[in-house]
Amino acid sequence: MTNHVFWKNNSLYLLDQRELPFKKTYLKCDNIKDVAYAIKSMAVRGAPLIGIVAAYGVVLGIFSILSSKDSVKDKDIENICERLSKTRPTAVNLFWALERMKNAFKKFCKHIDMPGLMLDEAISIHVEDIENNRMLSLFGAELIDDGDTILTHCNAGALAMGGYGTALGVIRAAHESGKRIKVFATETRPYLQGARLTAWELFEEGVDVEIVPDNHVGLLCYKKVINKIIVGADRIALNGDTANKIGTSMVALCAYHYKIPFFIAAPVSTFDRNIQNGASIPIEERNGKEVKYINGKPLTLKAIKARYYSFDITPEQHISNIITEKGIIEKPFKKYIKMLFTV
Ligand code: MRU
Repeated sequence: MTNHVFWKNNSLYLLDQRELPFKKTYLKCDNIKDVAYAIKSMAVRGAPLIGIVAAYGVVLGIFSILSSKDSVKDKDIENICERLSKTRPTAVNLFWALERMKNAFKKFCKHIDMPGLMLDEAISIHVEDIENNRMLSLFGAELIDDGDTILTHCNAGALAMGGYGTALGVIRAAHESGKRIKVFATETRPYLQGARLTAWELFEEGVDVEIVPDNHVGLLCYKKVINKIIVGADRIALNGDTANKIGTSMVALCAYHYKIPFFIAAPVSTFDRNIQNGASIPIEERNGKEVKYINGKPLTLKAIKARYYSFDITPEQHISNIITEKGIIEKPFKKYIKMLFTV
């Protein structure tokens, strides 16, 4: 897998996911404006990756301040984090990573090498994410059997994280252990994370993958073409209700109706300890123009309106298990999710 996020000579380099799989171009970020643009424009996307990129963004913000001032104040960190937090509202990993960077600043602000220690903190967030992905993937692979045909929606692969993947990490770990698996990737209109990113990642890994339009899920369940479904998450409430890419709740509803196991795979940083249920999760609404144009070509008349909610909420009743790096969460979710934060 291509190195899609790295730090070099005090700049952050990000593989521009809008161009994949045809072109591999990198955005060079030198300040928080560049980082905010990369997140907002979806050059980088996926809940954990947004958090990792924002953490590096805080470091760039610190470097920018130190190029014209002698010191960095608490207020400066507040302003940097405020700016980055405005980029995308749903993935809680963004706010989690910014909080962690604020706490690191409190700890290191008086240290002679504060900027270096802040960079180390961002690197730790990045490295820990990859380790957590690997760990949860090993747990999740136990739920996958030789011969399974699995459907996934959107992209919860290495590209959406520091590396390796959550939903795709589970598939990858099962594939690496020798299980024969077939995957259906929904194309995921309108950004096409499934067709452009998931299919590409799995194809590169040698996994048997086929793209289907989003509206095929009902038929694939009805005909028992698929026997398991696994997706990632952008924010999980304390009762297990889960925000993920728009369309996930329809997939989960089909799975529930046809009694097909539906798994969420996500690191603990995706759980929101302040939110009791899905109703309070903020849903990003993007510009309807992103629905009306494909590669700059209009799909309909200019005067026709379009609406684009980027995420939806899957009620916990429709989820079979949640796979984390601390283990597999069973029902009742409320009881076991609480334990994530106490043990
Ligand atoms: O709009 P995106 O591409 O950032 O949405 C990504 C998803 O919905 C993923 O499924 C989610 O972030 C889980 S991957 C960690």
